[in-house]
Amino acid sequence: MTGKYDFETIIDRSGFNSMGQHPEKFTQGVRVKEGFTPINVWIGGDLWFPTAPSLTKALVERAQHPFYNMIQRPCDAYYESIIAWQKARYGVDKMTRADITPHNNLPGPIIAALKTFCIPGDSVLLTLPMFSGYFGDLEYAGCKPVLSSLVKDGDGVWRLDFDDIEQKIAANHVHVTIFSSPHNPTGRVWERWELEKLMALFEKYQVIVIADETWCDWTLNGHTHIPMQSVSEYARYHTIANYGLSKPFGSNGLNAAYTVIYDSYLRDRLDAATERTALDSIGPFAEAAIMGALSPEGAEWLDDARELINKNMNFAYDYVTKQLKGVSTSLPDGTYLLVLDCERWCKEHNVPMDELVRKGFEYGVIWAAGAKNYGPFGIRMCLAHPFSQVQEIFDRLGKYVFKA
Ligand SMILES: Cc1ncc(COP(=O)(O)O)c(C=O)c1O
Repeated sequence: MTGKYDFETIIDRSGFNSMGQHPEKFTQGVRVKEGFTPINVWIGGDLWFPTAPSLTKALVERAQHPFYNMIQRPCDAYYESIIAWQKARYGVDKMTRADITPHNNLPGPIIAALKTFCIPGDSVLLTLPMFSGYFGDLEYAGCKPVLSSLVKDGDGVWRLDFDDIEQKIAANHVHVTIFSSPHNPTGRVWERWELEKLMALFEKYQVIVIADETWCDWTLNGHTHIPMQSVSEYARYHTIANYGLSKPFGSNGLNAAYTVIYDSYLRDRLDAATERTALDSIGPFAEAAIMGALSPEGAEWLDDARELINKNMNFAYDYVTKQLKGVSTSLPDGTYLLVLDCERWCKEHNVPMDELVRKGFEYGVIWAAGAKNYGPFGIRMCLAHPFSQVQEIFDRLGKYVFKA
């Protein structure tokens, strides 16, 4: 850790209409008790410490040039930043500008891909638990979710159930999947053998892969992200890979995302679908943000920020396993998300899950639950907060919330 960056100041976001600043949007009407400042661990894509100074500097410099034109195609340096980043961090060495298409965000190209490569009523394979947004994407595109549950192995590691996946693909004639890698919410950074085995199944059944790799920059405790497109020839030419600044640099609001597609047929079809909706027309600030963030300075900041997340995660894991008896969790390989399994605690203390969730809200822990995404006793927490806030959260959980 260089110690150059400030990860401890608690930023006051009031007045900036920040989604995460409004706890009442998430608490289903439950009021936070007096004296407990709400801490938002609900939103998966928010950082609660300042983003990379190189990103801010790029935006300020761009803002000083007083014309804010439409961008037909980003400048050369934009593409070079992405190519250099992907090579330095993930060893991707055969990417060209033609393979990259700028986008506003991830859901745009994901929905466009569903609408382009499925017809209404088609089945699309998803894994459970999963990022809540995919259900809406599928609904919008008129597709049916086919769900394969991850299973925990003997060491508590979430694994793909390959037999179940194959059976579901075959039975439902699946030809499109959305796959989250690293995985939201479990935090799995998939190993090469897992991706290879999965891809072999996709090849066998001719499945097009919409790879959501938005979390790829948050790998923890020595884990390495492997781009799905790199695991086989089939993967390279049948995957639509999605990236953006929203997760690594906490910058959803900048609309700076992009896809990588190596197959010209897939790319032309998707480009045609998104061109007409302007989903792929980014603005000058997204262009500047990409160049400022995906830079050597941005990489240094990110590596330091990952150290903080490692510290937060190790602290949280330790706290849960030692102090919250009956609650279980796994140390994630990546992301800044922690999933708690509260089943044993709720049953042992005879506390219904909705009451536990509500209690968290009352003490200002604005967390995310929902049987559909996290299972009936699952809670997801986003720990991209200063360390002192993470300590505060778990202190409240131990003292007030997990108390029957
Ligand atoms: C796996 C995953 N995909 C997509 C998104 C949303 O993409 P964006 O940040 O571009 O809105 C999120 C946001 O939390 C996510 O976790």
